[in-house]
This record gives sequence, structure tokens and C-alpha cells, in this order.
Amino acid sequence: MTLYIRWFALAALVAGTAGDKIQTTPNERDTLFAPTAPSPGPAPLLDRVLLVGLYKDRGSSIKSYALSDDGSLTSIGDSNAGGNPSWIAAAGPRGEGTLTSLLTVSETGNTVASLSLGCDGKVTETSRVSSQGAGPVHLATDPLGEHAFVANYGGGTVAVLPVTQGGDSAVSLGEATQTVDFGASAHAHSTYLSGGGVYVPTLGLDQVQQLTFEGGKLSKAHEPLSVPQDQGPRHLAFHPTLPLAVLANEGNGTTQPTIELLGVDAAQGLSTIATYEASGPYSPPDLYPAEVLFSPGGSFVLVSVRDASTQKRDGIAVFQVGAESLTFKDYTAVGHYPRSMTLTKTGSQAGLLIVGNQKDNSLTLLNFDLASGALHKAAEDLPLGDSPAFVGIFETAKGCAAQATLV
Ligand SMILES: *[C@@H]1O[C@H](CO)[C@@H](O)[C@H](O)[C@H]1NC(C)=O
Repeated sequence: MTLYIRWFALAALVAGTAGDKIQTTPNERDTLFAPTAPSPGPAPLLDRVLLVGLYKDRGSSIKSYALSDDGSLTSIGDSNAGGNPSWIAAAGPRGEGTLTSLLTVSETGNTVASLSLGCDGKVTETSRVSSQGAGPVHLATDPLGEHAFVANYGGGTVAVLPVTQGGDSAVSLGEATQTVDFGASAHAHSTYLSGGGVYVPTLGLDQVQQLTFEGGKLSKAHEPLSVPQDQGPRHLAFHPTLPLAVLANEGNGTTQPTIELLGVDAAQGLSTIATYEASGPYSPPDLYPAEVLFSPGGSFVLVSVRDASTQKRDGIAVFQVGAESLTFKDYTAVGHYPRSMTLTKTGSQAGLLIVGNQKDNSLTLLNFDLASGALHKAAEDLPLGDSPAFVGIFETAKGCAAQATLV
């Protein structure tokens, strides 16, 4: 693929001000239009960055990429963020300064860390605490970014960790203030906050736990939502405007891979509306849904399906969202074992879907048509050299844009 770097060229800055009326004295005019030395390679303007969390025990465990408007990626460096950062989340509102804060898990270290994301797109660790359980795989924060909720897959627990704002928007994590234990085989797979509720798919129980967070404490809000035996709920996505959610069931390898359309009601909790097969033309065994997300605006649902065999049935299923139903659109092949994916808008009618292929050590890049829901390969798969556990796009702090123009 063609690598493309969006340099913030000095020439563009000058051209951008050409239409403005500038009052000048003769001396100043001379200075303004005197030949200038070539610009000393200004830094790229990074208002957002793709982070790839790697299944790597030591060394550089997060790769950073700049994303251009045409959807191409440019490697901008590696950072050490602890072993196996298999989930990364924004730690709260976007920073005003030149740092923004993120949170990540260490799936094998049983810890959670706060990170600063710099204007250069690289991360620096700022604190690390216990996750209060084995195998943390996912986390979320409350809307104010004051608490983190960590799902421990191995331990079957969810821990509440206080997040403290420091100077220059760097945050730090405190020791857990609460640990909710769903049982040793519960396999808490993820945590979501939506409309005052806290939802936890517990794969081993075939349930989604329904909690509230009030007065700094998690408590049960409703009976858990149950899915059929061995469907193994993994990830949820909430519709941006409608009272709907979609649940991706990982299954047990022999079950039919499914997703469920859920109704979301603050008073009643979650309810099952309908169940859909997620693996397009393919049938079990060895198919495991992983990630689920709504397109911007919520017209479509995308589900990644991992093939544990070598038959290359891995793909992304796309469904159109109706008022109370989903309609299957298409199933598009991707690399081996698409564990994570992220969708970003690249134009009013276009998105870029970035898929992390865990067993191919690569990213698949697909253009997503926001009007039709069609997916088309945007480029050859991008080799990483390591196994991706997580892909996500994060905005850098608001101050980064200003810094990039001060060349
Ligand atoms: C997987 O789930 C099916 C359906 O519940 C069940 O019959 C089968 O025994 C399960 N397999 C394993 C390995 O647990």
C-alpha cells in the first residue's frame, strides 16, 4: 500500500492566510515575502491515532499509526504499555492540554494501567494497580471518567477503580474500591455503561449482569438477561440513538454463532427481541463471534467472526438496523481470527473498518459505505510482526492541533 504522511506544510499555512487583509509597513512587507529556508520537517498533525494493543509479554506492546483522510496508515512508533494490553479505553473527556489519558489492561499481568497519549501518538504509562482478578480483558469508565470498571475473565470479577485527574490531564488509578464476584467460572468478558446501567456479559453463566453504579458502588439493578445454554455472551454494543443493543455470543465452538438484538429500558432492563445467525454462509464448528459495533449513526451492525480452524471462514457480518429487527446484508472475508475491530468516519458517506487479525499478525482495512453498508477491501492486509489483541482509534488532546501549527 502507498504510505502517506499528512505533513502540515508551511506552504499550506502561508497559502491559507493569503486571502486575509494584512496591514504592513514597507519593511514588514520585505520580511513577509523574503525567501524562507525550507521548513524543518514539521510534525504531522495528529488529531487522532490508531492504537494496536499486542499480545506481547514484554517490550513494545502498543503500536501507533497516523490515519490519513484517504484511509491509509503510517506507522509512527511503538510504546511499552505492559504485557498483553488486550483492551484500551479513553479515561474520560478529551484533554485540553497536550496530553490525553487512556486506560489499559494487562491480560497476563492481572493489572490495569493509566497511559498518557502524547501529540506524537505514543503512550507513556502513568500508574498501574491490581485488576483484582485473573485475566482482565476489558474496561470502561463512567461518563465523567471518575471510575473504571474492569472485567476479569479468569477471575470472574468486576473491579471498580478510582481514576484521579492529575496536572496537565494525566490521570492515575487508585486501588480498587469494590470487587463484585460472579463466581470462578463466570468469565466476566466486558463492562458497558449506558443510560445509568452497568452491563456485564458473563460468558460462563450465559448471562448479562444488569447493575447500577450509585454512590460509588455497583449493585444489582435487574435479574440477569439469560441467553440459551452455551451461547457464551462476549461483547455488547449500544445503539447511538434508539433503545437497542446487540449482543455478540462467542458460543462454545459447536454452537451456531449468534447475535441477539436487545431492547434497552431503564425501568425494565434488557430484553431479547430476536436472535440472528452471525456467520453468513458458514456453519459450526469452530466459529466464534468476537467484536460487535454499530456504524456511526446506527444504520448498520458489524460483527467479527473468528474461525479457529484453517478453513479461512473468518469474516465480518453486516446487518441493517430496522425499528425492531436486523436484516442480514453480507459477510466479507478478513484475515485469520478477527478479535478486534474499529470503524472510523473518513467522509460523509465513507468509513474505514480496521480489523485486528490475531492469528495472522495483521490488520485488514476495508472501506465501509455508510449509506449501503457495503464493505470493500481498501488495501492489502498490513503485516504487524506481532499478534494484535486490540485495535482502537483515539483522539489526541485538543492542544495537539495548536502545537502542530506552531512550526
Ligand atoms: C456446546 O454447547 C452445546 C449446546 O448447549 C452442547 O450440547 C455441547 O455439549 C457443548 N460443548 C462443550 C464442549 O461444552
